[in-house]
Amino acid sequence: MSTDHGRVINFGAGPSALPLSVLEEAQKGLLNFQGTGMGVAEISHRSKEFQTFLSDFEANIRTQLDVPPTHRILFTQGGGTAQFSAVVLNLLARYRLLRPDAAPADTEARRLSAGATVRTVVDARVYSKDGRSFDNIPPHAEFAFSADPALIYYCENETVDGVEFSHDPQSPAAFPFHLLPRDKLVPLVADYSSSFMCRPIPHLADHAVIYAGAQKNIGPAGLTILIVREDCIVDVDAAAKLGATPVPLILSYKTLADSGSLYNTPSVLAIYMAGLVLERMKQNGGLPYYEEVNRRKAKKVYAAIHEGEQKGVFRRKVQQGSESWMNVVFEVLGEGAEKKFLDGAEKQGMKGLKGHRSVGGIRVSLYNAVTEEEVDKLVAYMTEFMAQAAPEAQNST
Ligand SMILES: Cc1ncc(COP(=O)(O)O)c(C=O)c1O
Repeated sequence: MSTDHGRVINFGAGPSALPLSVLEEAQKGLLNFQGTGMGVAEISHRSKEFQTFLSDFEANIRTQLDVPPTHRILFTQGGGTAQFSAVVLNLLARYRLLRPDAAPADTEARRLSAGATVRTVVDARVYSKDGRSFDNIPPHAEFAFSADPALIYYCENETVDGVEFSHDPQSPAAFPFHLLPRDKLVPLVADYSSSFMCRPIPHLADHAVIYAGAQKNIGPAGLTILIVREDCIVDVDAAAKLGATPVPLILSYKTLADSGSLYNTPSVLAIYMAGLVLERMKQNGGLPYYEEVNRRKAKKVYAAIHEGEQKGVFRRKVQQGSESWMNVVFEVLGEGAEKKFLDGAEKQGMKGLKGHRSVGGIRVSLYNAVTEEEVDKLVAYMTEFMAQAAPEAQNST
């Protein structure tokens, strides 16, 4: 089944679906950006038209996420992967400036900081059903933060296994902000790559750095958004003189901040499309609107999985309370059943449902551009699949 332009329903984990209206608008911008007579991929990033677009985009993120004046919004490239390195280098430089005499303090942090200690605050696998999976947010009592860390890192939504911190502050699966010291500026870093702009960010002001690749919820790959607290924008060269690892200028938050995120050529097209998405989000009512729709979408899919569990057809992967809103992961039980599920879905025009290669199963990504109507179609298919598979499941038990 195809919709407009022969498009299917895309449940892919990223790059992922974008709103049709944005894609149509972007077609126009590709030919003629804001009446300049040049397409957006052809125009100088230093042109007044692009710079105005960039500052409107930034303002749109600031307003919708309610980013306080203590934090800068910066744009860069390299995705979450580049930030795995950049955030470590910048915050080690900050730490060195704060503690010039201290000994220089997962794998990337260890590589980049000779002599540093990397503590795993908590290993979720220990609390998993099989002792080796990431299927839960561990109990708060098990979080062991270092006393004076250069940075504390967490991933808000883990895209592969479909585990996410709850945004209900009362939930045992919420991030334990209450365990962080209150008396100083905590170097708390959050990877929001797969949940950026799907709902408000709890305790945003308490973060040192939040980063996200655009390619899940708000645009094409190639753009990375950073929200950086002012005290984390440090002189990396001064820190290097004190013994910190030198930071490549393009990875330095100070370089980005001083140049208005235009130190070198940015990913102009990705910024343009993400800007259009943000504008559309604003017109739809902003994050409160998306939060409600995303809540309903996830609820519907988890309810269908639950029904399938009762019938012996599906099995959830993630423990109760730790389920992601954005990436719903489950198994289809029985020999060859997953392939049958995927083939059947594809026949009905639903793609991108295959789980990550490292964990298998089915993964339904419910990013902002996936509509509630599309989710209803998937749920109808899951119900239909259960009706066919349940008698077989019963016969095999
Ligand atoms: C939560 C999260 N962090 C980081 C990454 C890596 O991002 P990138 O491929 O943009 O470097 C991904 C990729 O999908 C992700 O989902």
